[in-house]
Amino acid sequence: MPITALPPTTVRAIGSTSVIADPCSVVKELLDNALDASATSIGIEISSNAVDVIQVKDNGHGISSDDHALVCKRTFTSKIQTVEDLRTLGGKSLGFRGEALASAAEVSGGVTITTRVEAEMVGTSIKYGRNGELISYRWQTHIQLSRHRARHFQVI
Ligand SMILES: Nc1ncnc2c1ncn2[C@@H]1O[C@H](COP(=O)(O)OP(=O)(O)O)[C@@H](O)[C@H]1O
Ligand SMILES: [Mg+2]
Repeated sequence: MPITALPPTTVRAIGSTSVIADPCSVVKELLDNALDASATSIGIEISSNAVDVIQVKDNGHGISSDDHALVCKRTFTSKIQTVEDLRTLGGKSLGFRGEALASAAEVSGGVTITTRVEAEMVGTSIKYGRNGELISYRWQTHIQLSRHRARHFQVI
């Protein structure tokens, strides 16, 4: 499913609120996303103070270029579109609110995602700003794993 905005009625129905409260929440959300992307291998890098860098690498399906601009937008998700979808989702997905990456970008001042889908020869490294806006991207050769990196994470 492509990433799309949840309709306001769905947002209200699932009570979507910020899911990031501390560095542990960032790691947990990135792990959830990796597992939702069917990853079988996940690597975590955390700086010794747990606030400078949090990076999770996974070998899941990656993010299609059509979705790059939408990944860090609040209440945008590829996992559900309506509340009814939650009934069929049961057990298949750990996230569905479209809040995690938007919140991570907000509290850390921005995130960088490096990703490639199977059909692409090269990956893309994309920087997002505090409001989830796409700031820049560049081709990234030799990438096998998705990398989600939050820098200068501030505990709130
Ligand atoms: N590691 C990942 N691999 C593939 N797609 C991802 C990954 N992390 C995030 N995404 C995509 O970005 C979207 C937004 O992620 P997130 O903010 O965590 O919201 P949610 O998981 O609730 O949909 C996901 O729906 C998914 O399409
Ligand atoms: Mg998620």
